[in-house]
Amino acid sequence: MIKIALRAAMLGMLGLTALTVSGQTKTGDKDRPWMNAKLSPERRADLVLEQMTLDEKIGMLHGNGMARQKHLPPEIEAVQDQSNGGAGFVFGVPRLGIPSIQMTDAAYGVRQSADNGRYSTALPSNLGSAASWDPDAACAYGKLIGDELRMQGYNTTLGGGTNITREPRNGRTFEYMGEDPVLAGTMVGQRIRCEGAEYVISDIKHYAFNDQESGRQEVDALIGERAGRESDLLAFEIGIKTGHPNMIMCSYNGINGTYGCENDWLLRDLVKGEWKFPGFIVSDWDATHSTVKASHAGLDQEQPLDLFYGEKLKQAVQGGEISQAELNDHVRRVLWAEFASGIIDHPAEKGVVDVMHGFEVSQKVEEGSAVLLRNQGGTLPLDPQKVRSIAVIGFKADTSMISGGGSAQVDAPGQIGGTKWRTHIWFPTSPLEAIRAKAPGATVSFSSGEEIRDAVAKAKSADVAIVFAWQWESEAGDLENLSLPENQDKLITAVAKANPHTVVVLETGTAVTMPWLDSTSAVLEAWYGGSKGADAVARLLFGEVNPSGKLPMTFPQSEDELPRKTVAQPPPPVTNGVLSFKVDYNIEGAAVGYKWYESQKKPVLFPFGFGLSYTTFSYSNLKVGKDGESVTVTVTNKGARAGAEVAEAYVALPASAGEPWKRLIAYKKLELAPGESKTVTMDVDPTYESIWDVAAKRWTRPSGEYKVMAGPSSAELPLEATFSVR
Ligand code: BGC
Repeated sequence: MIKIALRAAMLGMLGLTALTVSGQTKTGDKDRPWMNAKLSPERRADLVLEQMTLDEKIGMLHGNGMARQKHLPPEIEAVQDQSNGGAGFVFGVPRLGIPSIQMTDAAYGVRQSADNGRYSTALPSNLGSAASWDPDAACAYGKLIGDELRMQGYNTTLGGGTNITREPRNGRTFEYMGEDPVLAGTMVGQRIRCEGAEYVISDIKHYAFNDQESGRQEVDALIGERAGRESDLLAFEIGIKTGHPNMIMCSYNGINGTYGCENDWLLRDLVKGEWKFPGFIVSDWDATHSTVKASHAGLDQEQPLDLFYGEKLKQAVQGGEISQAELNDHVRRVLWAEFASGIIDHPAEKGVVDVMHGFEVSQKVEEGSAVLLRNQGGTLPLDPQKVRSIAVIGFKADTSMISGGGSAQVDAPGQIGGTKWRTHIWFPTSPLEAIRAKAPGATVSFSSGEEIRDAVAKAKSADVAIVFAWQWESEAGDLENLSLPENQDKLITAVAKANPHTVVVLETGTAVTMPWLDSTSAVLEAWYGGSKGADAVARLLFGEVNPSGKLPMTFPQSEDELPRKTVAQPPPPVTNGVLSFKVDYNIEGAAVGYKWYESQKKPVLFPFGFGLSYTTFSYSNLKVGKDGESVTVTVTNKGARAGAEVAEAYVALPASAGEPWKRLIAYKKLELAPGESKTVTMDVDPTYESIWDVAAKRWTRPSGEYKVMAGPSSAELPLEATFSVR
């Protein structure tokens, strides 16, 4: 009884009636001029805003708890039946036809399907997809997720991870798009664009410098303006320009002494000011720390509750600390996102996820994303006619492949719901079965590798040994080091000693060190391979698909080569709300990843942009367009197999820039038949050749000579040309 009364009171406060919460009303559209889709989203948002009460406005600026969250305040508890089961939901204004926002995580697929009795496709990890260097693959990735979100009743995604790999031990490296701002920004931009085109509110996150998980709510990331603009922020800038997300999620950490979600430099000046972002800024979950300060800085919406943007916000508005205009700006942005994304004109309709279509897309992305790192003496591809015996070795390699955890986690088929935070989830895609299917004439044995002796015996008696090695990572923790866990280095060393034809398939979320590398014949980096990982890998191993992925991050020789020997840790006790320790990103500044190793003259294990193929390519005829506005290059397939090659172009700035490293400025993936040549002209955004002038507050190209280089990887650039800026 009390609960019902409470709920009624709550709905009344929000101007709702129980019958209208779905957004359907009895009033015709002529009374609602904002429903005219011919008007601009800006105009439509303004028209709605004029009609809204203060309570309705406040209701749009905070969440109402996560699905199945415990210990909720009674008034929030009372409205839980309106949640679609995701990480957050926000009331709309049904009397005006404005639906509620139903959010869920969707990094590499839609989260929490087990809890809700639904199903989602797992795509390869975001990092894996960046290794495709293929904007079309990024688009297919986003489209599939957008589609599955709607099928499950969501109209908002919490995907779009863009933090560049400044710290490869970051437990969320698999959720991001690698270490380069141009690659990460363009790839995430395509993903966001195509996800948003499915009529969901699209997202980019975690803005910004959220590059480690250890003490993420207490860490203060120190970074200079120029270094920041040329690195992490450039990735966001490109991602936002390319993908036009409707929403930006601000991050947990501090940046130069101020939390991300109340940081006026990042939110007000940069995003809303300079970049003219028209959408809204949502806090990461429990990353809001104030009302007035956050509001002034530009935070529009608090998640998942209303600790600062509920009653306190109302009081601040009524007390005049926050102006009506400022409040209206927050609300207008949320409304704009709803109109611009299309969730009002094209509301999500629940349906059945097309499992087979998801398999197809996921497998195709994986096939274009796996990176062939080593292939001695043409060990790969395996010839199913010739190979007589294969030993498949690896923990769970008979049944499944590992996936990445945390809020990115996609539930595996057959998985029971309930909290699976930071547990290893293996997807039922069996390397052993996939390999058996490709080589029906061969004897295929299996060892889990838990008993090294058993693995060695099986390897010894086979023509080829294939070891499936894994490294798990997840939000809310960083890796201590880049070694494979659980004795796997020992296992691979022993197997490679027993069999000279040892192939290692890596299922990893970030770079790993490879003390055994020289003793192996081949290494294929498969990342987290998604729902159809095993089939994709088998097709690559047997040459049905020619590998074409390239590394979106450097694989260092050891952790000693990183800018920081260890990941900075918070001092006890953990206190969310206090910036209790610092991580100094000025050490490497803008020189993230390959730029760091190059400027420090440190050799690496595998360079950024590297990846082999079963054919070979040559590069010729480099031309640079007027003022460096484009790069033209010819790529030829010199071998007997069709293949795809990513042509990469870099620039070294004049010495006066003070940046002794090159930067990626353009790339293009080309499909080439045997013997075929293609000439491609790649446009270059002048920003990619610029430095950030702090005093003048603008991008500028220092005068002098610019060296443009092109080739197959950051470490192999056979062609050079120059252009000058006066
Ligand atoms: C993560 C976000 C996520 C949110 C909601 C947070 O812990 O940092 O990426 O979207 O939870 O699940």
